[in-house]
Amino acid sequence: MSTDASPQIRSADFRDSGLRFPTGFTFGSATASYQVEGAANEDGRGPSIWDTFSRTPGKVWNGDTGDVACDHYHRWESDLDLMADLGLGAYRFSIAWPRIIPTGRGAVNQAGIDFYSRLVDGLLARGIRPVATLYHWDLPQTLEDAGGWPARETADAFAEYASVLGAALGDRVHTWTTLNEPWCTAYLGYGQGGHAPGRREPAASLAAAHHLNLAHGRALQALRATSTGSPEYSVTLNLHVARGEAEAVRRIDAVGNRVFTSPMLRGVYDDDLIADTAALTDWSFVRDGDLAEIHQPIDVLGVNYYSTNTVRLWSGDAPRQSNDGHKPADGGTAWPGSDDVVEFLPQPGPHTAMDWNIAPDGLLELLHTLRDRFPEQPLMITENGAAFEDAVSGDGGVHDAERVDYLRRHLTAAHRAIEDGVDLRGYFVWSLLDNFEWGYGYAKRFGVVRVDFDDQTRTVKDSGHWFRGLATTGVIPE
Ligand code: NOJ
Repeated sequence: MSTDASPQIRSADFRDSGLRFPTGFTFGSATASYQVEGAANEDGRGPSIWDTFSRTPGKVWNGDTGDVACDHYHRWESDLDLMADLGLGAYRFSIAWPRIIPTGRGAVNQAGIDFYSRLVDGLLARGIRPVATLYHWDLPQTLEDAGGWPARETADAFAEYASVLGAALGDRVHTWTTLNEPWCTAYLGYGQGGHAPGRREPAASLAAAHHLNLAHGRALQALRATSTGSPEYSVTLNLHVARGEAEAVRRIDAVGNRVFTSPMLRGVYDDDLIADTAALTDWSFVRDGDLAEIHQPIDVLGVNYYSTNTVRLWSGDAPRQSNDGHKPADGGTAWPGSDDVVEFLPQPGPHTAMDWNIAPDGLLELLHTLRDRFPEQPLMITENGAAFEDAVSGDGGVHDAERVDYLRRHLTAAHRAIEDGVDLRGYFVWSLLDNFEWGYGYAKRFGVVRVDFDDQTRTVKDSGHWFRGLATTGVIPE
């Protein structure tokens, strides 16, 4: 988001406060199928692009895969008990497309539906709202083989998948979320190559972005047509809070943020986006009627926030930095324009274990910007959290004071946003469990519950106890 208004509070100004959230504000935790489920070859699940990618040497740290992950597929009941014990009001999980339609199109796998049906029932039995994401990056491999997200047919397949889910679970799911962070799918998956399927085709990444938008709009229509309950509808975006040179900030806002928000929430692609990317594509993959299909109402816009970016234009006379905030620098992530690129500069600390800067003021700025751009649109923080080098203490606990501090400061920013008039409905901590952190494998721990990956023991960290205090009282604990 742009930085025309200077942030009203800076990171250092946050204090413990005992601030109370409004009645009805949702506190939850989030996970994603490939990151926690394991059971990669069970009950008819087909292969996904992340199975392929993680088994490709050199793609994921340590050769880690999601084959076992947190074994949540088998431990879901005790994990639900854990969520209840933490006082969570909602659980944001994703559905593995290759469990539901193993080859992406055609035959439906009842065992896959049954798993999520049991999960949803188990949540409801514990008084926890199911917030289900249809796509958190595990595309059926067969669909990638047929072209992946740069191919329009993937959006057709997604709408079919959405209809199946609406009919199977739409009587009980509280919130449907179409996509998680399509930016990562389009640009990390098809442009920069650090995520599955690992393609480095900048032009294809823009076609992917459009087909993800189309998939979102079509899925909303399909879910609305098939859900018999009264679910809410949403999408989750990771929007950049970019600072630095104004022209670089504008470009990142166009290609990173407005490429999704403008079609989804306004029904247009912005002229500056089309102009900025003209050297790569003429956008002829956008067909008549697409924008109307994409522009569907949503009840809540999900926002994932971790840190800020500082950007400038680079035109060849200085060594290029590279840090897209999601993968280790590899020299190739800057965004190309016609004759220069947007360069991501290293951020001043403090940093988390991901090397992401800690900046709760960026969250406040993002929420303000969204309120200003889309005043009628309710918002939800669908991810926020941090990886740190956790250690198990002699007393058996995980005293993750840094994570508690991170959460407290970001929740204070969220509370401040509400005071400032932002229609913010909830906050989901990423993550419930330490899990498979994509290209970093199991090396980065985001959980408020520790997972021992040798024996699958769960240990509630100090941050989990702290979050329980928040979720059960609605007040930010001291
Ligand atoms: C965003 C993604 O949605 C999630 O899968 C990931 O683990 C976290 N950010 C942390 O990187």
